[in-house]
Amino acid sequence: MAKTPRTPLSGSAPEGPVSDTGEERQGELRPKAHSEQIPVTSSQRSGDPGSAGIRPGVTGSGRDGVREMRPTDDLTAAQRRELIAGMTPEDAERVPELHEVEVPAELQERIEHAMGRYPQLRSAAIPALWAVQRHHGWCSPEGIRQAAAVMGVTPGYLEGVASFYDLFHTNPEGRHRVLVCHNISCWMNGGDALLEAFAEATGADAGEAGHGGASSTDGEFYLQGFECLGACDMAPMASIDEIYFGPLELADAATAVEQMRAGEKVLEDKALGKRPAAAGPEPEPDPRMAKVENGGPAAQPQEASDGA
Ligand code: FES
Repeated sequence: MAKTPRTPLSGSAPEGPVSDTGEERQGELRPKAHSEQIPVTSSQRSGDPGSAGIRPGVTGSGRDGVREMRPTDDLTAAQRRELIAGMTPEDAERVPELHEVEVPAELQERIEHAMGRYPQLRSAAIPALWAVQRHHGWCSPEGIRQAAAVMGVTPGYLEGVASFYDLFHTNPEGRHRVLVCHNISCWMNGGDALLEAFAEATGADAGEAGHGGASSTDGEFYLQGFECLGACDMAPMASIDEIYFGPLELADAATAVEQMRAGEKVLEDKALGKRPAAAGPEPEPDPRMAKVENGGPAAQPQEASDGA
């Protein structure tokens, strides 16, 4: 079968791939075939792992001047190590050693506890980052390095996770975190007005809060319009310092902000203290479940009122 020329990744393609009928398809990208042969430089032919280096998945020798491209799944462990070494820049950040980093004992304990809950230690990245954010107030470079040392991963790995999820803050934000839902159910029940009420009470910019989040000038509050917080049944609602509150009225915004400033409990009668935000504090055991686990009656049959 005829080999097709490689397609440029950007810009206009002077020569597109060629179909089975020989017809040229201008500018069309296609997946790379596993056995595709690609030209290599003289340094690659000579096995020099210098600047030209080893190319991903390029192993063995084909015809003169051509190397065979193989999927990395087909590589042996030694070939895979060689490939990774060839792709790793000399100045790549390495895994920090635990003795090189000063990790607060409480933070280390939380991260190690999270690591113990997963067969793959890397799976603890999200709870470890929560621990960092709660300890430092944000996912600071220092905090990420501390978590990386405990977990035995590179800081870059954790930074990649932290920068992907918008509940993680990679910049310092206000001390109290207020997320006001303005998705469909909350919006229909006054979510936008509630966000504005929180903006007025905290001093954060309402426009910015509704488009990515904003901190108050005194650094006390971080306010963000969010969607959807998954508690549509209590619309309009907000998550304040990882606890859900709702349904809220406009006046609740000023009350909640005053209470936070005074260091008091917030909107106690509207808090779903046992219903945490995503990845929020561990909930207390549901008393109904505890009853069943302790030998009580199993779940009751549904009420006849459901029409069954
Ligand atoms: S729309 Fe607000 S929680 Fe779902």
